[in-house]
This record gives sequence, structure tokens and C-alpha cells, in this order.
Amino acid sequence: MIQLFDTHCHIADSAFDEDRAQMIERFREAGVARALVVADPCEESPNQEKVFALADAYDFLYAAIGVHPHNASGYTDEIESLLLEYIRKPKCRLWGEIGLDYHYDLSPREIQREIFDRQLDLAFEMQMPVQLHIREAHGDCMDMLRTRAKNGRMPRGIMHCYTGSWEAAKVYLDLGLMISLSGAVTFKNAPKLAEVAQNIPLDRLLIETDCPYMAPVPLRGRRNEPAFIVHTFEKVALLREMEPEALAEQLWRNSTAIIHP
Ligand code: NI
Repeated sequence: MIQLFDTHCHIADSAFDEDRAQMIERFREAGVARALVVADPCEESPNQEKVFALADAYDFLYAAIGVHPHNASGYTDEIESLLLEYIRKPKCRLWGEIGLDYHYDLSPREIQREIFDRQLDLAFEMQMPVQLHIREAHGDCMDMLRTRAKNGRMPRGIMHCYTGSWEAAKVYLDLGLMISLSGAVTFKNAPKLAEVAQNIPLDRLLIETDCPYMAPVPLRGRRNEPAFIVHTFEKVALLREMEPEALAEQLWRNSTAIIHP
């Protein structure tokens, strides 16, 4: 039986309020044996209590918390104290998602960079791996991370929902990051992601849903949920010409190495 680990999902989202228990049952039946749920105290409706209650209720759920670049403007001392409190909880395994998003520019770029750097510093000091969200900001992100690496202050972590080029992926791999692929790898207009999926060293590869967003083909456009990760998994197995069992085993090892050491 194949066991998968959804390394990034938003199942506390209100999109699941009607059928959360059934959705969780569905993904268990589909072979998703563990999942990591993401919290952000700067969301319009802060969701950290909901996320951590889920992680407490189900032994196979883990949590991450961080201020998303969209919400960087809302980062305050109070928010930081709250992050530090939640980061120390036993089911919390990653600091994220944090990063830069120049596509939507929902917070000014300068503030995004400042808050990203601040959270990278704290995560590094607490030896907490990070989960990065980078959209249309790879140049600035690489500059920041390279500086950190040079100063010996680069945390371990994951580039989540990676949709960049293989050239850029190589830089992130050199910085020690793992690369996580979402349903985007199944999209027909994503040849560069196929190249990424084929070339990431096997021990640095992860998969995720990022649900309720990014539903994979053939369910593209629908509300995404962790059970749908099987389509992403099958696509990656096909691209890498690997036996599903062997790929699943390696992905499981990679996921647990960073989330459940
Ligand atoms: Ni996300």
C-alpha cells in the first residue's frame, strides 16, 4: 500500500467547513498517511487556533506557522510573540509559509523583504526548518538567501509549490533547500516544471497539494483536497519513469526527514 505525505495544505480553510471530517477520511483512504497544515496569524481570519486544534485532534497531522508575504504589513511585535509561542508547540514542524510575492504585491515589497528576513532569522536561531513561498521574486529571494548562506545563517527548509525554472531550482538546491511540487506539475502548459520534476535529486523532492488551491489535472479548477495528491504523485512517477512504490518510499523518507525527524 502506497503511503503519501501532503507536505503543505490549508485544510483549516473555510472551504472545508462543511465536510472537513469526510475530506480527512477521503484522504486517509486514498493513501495520504500524513499531512502538514499551514497557519498564519495575519490572515483576515487568523487560523492558528483552528490549525493547531486539528493537529492535536489527529496524530497524522502536523502544523506550520508563519506570516505569508501577502500579510507582511500586518506583522507586529504581538504577532511575533504569538509566532514564537506556536512554533514551540510539539506538533509544529516548520516556520512558514514565508517569502516574497511580487505577483499580487499585497504588501509593499520592501516590507515583504524585511518580514521575510526577520522570520528567516528567528527560524535559523530556533533551528526550525522554513517553508518558502516565492512568486515572481526569485532574483531578490536568491540575493537574500545567498547572503544568509555566506554569513552561515541559512536555515534548512522547503521551497513550497515550486513553479520556477530548473535553472533557478539548481540555485535553491545549492542553498540546501528541498523542492516541493504541487498540482501545477500536471498542467499541460507546464513543460518547464516537467524538466524540474525530472531533474531534482531524488532525495530532495517533495509533493504537496497546497489545497484548496492548485487542483491537479484531471480535477483542475475544482476545490483541491489532500486526496487529490495521487494525481500529482502519478505524474511525477511518470515523468521520472519510476515504479510508484519506489517513488512513494523515497518521498516518504524525504518528508519525514524534514517534518518528523
Ligand atoms: Ni500555501
